Amino acid sequence: MLGKLIVCEGGEGAGKTTQLKLLQDWLARSGWLARINTYVQADYPPVLITREPGGTVLGQGIRKLLLDVTATGDESIDGQAELLLFAADRAEHVASCLLPHLQQGSLILCDRYTDSTIAYQGYGRGLDLKLIQQLNQIATQGLESDLTLWLDLEVEVGLSRTRQRHPDPEIRVDRMETHEILFHQRLREGFKALAQEYPDRIVRIDAEHSAAEVALQIQAVLAPLLKEWYP
Ligand SMILES: Nc1ncnc2c1ncn2[C@@H]1O[C@H](COP(=O)(O)OP(=O)(O)OP(=O)(O)O)[C@@H](O)[C@H]1O
Ligand SMILES: [Mg+2]
Repeated sequence: MLGKLIVCEGGEGAGKTTQLKLLQDWLARSGWLARINTYVQADYPPVLITREPGGTVLGQGIRKLLLDVTATGDESIDGQAELLLFAADRAEHVASCLLPHLQQGSLILCDRYTDSTIAYQGYGRGLDLKLIQQLNQIATQGLESDLTLWLDLEVEVGLSRTRQRHPDPEIRVDRMETHEILFHQRLREGFKALAQEYPDRIVRIDAEHSAAEVALQIQAVLAPLLKEWYP
């Protein structure tokens, strides 16, 4: 494949969206954007930021469905139904966005991908890991990331960041239900297990520092890869 796929993973509030934006800015500032552009076919962007769920028109509808169910506090969504909605979002995203851009040479920065499903639905909700792997395989057509940045930090720190983003006096991390904290701890364990299983693809980033410091860690990981990918 001509292009490259970089994925940002991690729990809630780890800084994924923040870091992808900072990475895009750094690529432009440091001259990489112009260099990548010489590899990309006309009419395609050198760098594309996208996300799962919600990276396509269909995906935006699926994302809204999934978030609406969560927002009502009604946890009655069936685990398999949720899993299939994520898979449908991914299938559309891979087929209509990721693959066409990679074929034309774009560098894609994707907010969450297959590992989130393994961590959330597998480790978090306890669904069958083998089934999730099979669905990931079908939805991605076998497309794996070239690099996955796992932003790792203490569960409580990440959750308190998301609470600050949407201040709600009724919801404070220290009053959150134990099962919610335990859920997030399980999914952190999931990312850890994945990073151990796929050390060539997944790089752990210590996300507990300031956004600027985390960005420097990411740039240090990426610089040698960019030199290799775009000589
Ligand atoms: N390194 C950091 N230190 C402190 N605050 C941060 C840091 N990085 C991001 N934030 C802030 O924490 C909040 C969550 O960050 P962000 O939205 O980037 O996380 P996320 O991983 O994308 O979360 P989600 O999983 O909910 O999409 C934001 O308000 C952001 O400004
Ligand atoms: Mg985000």
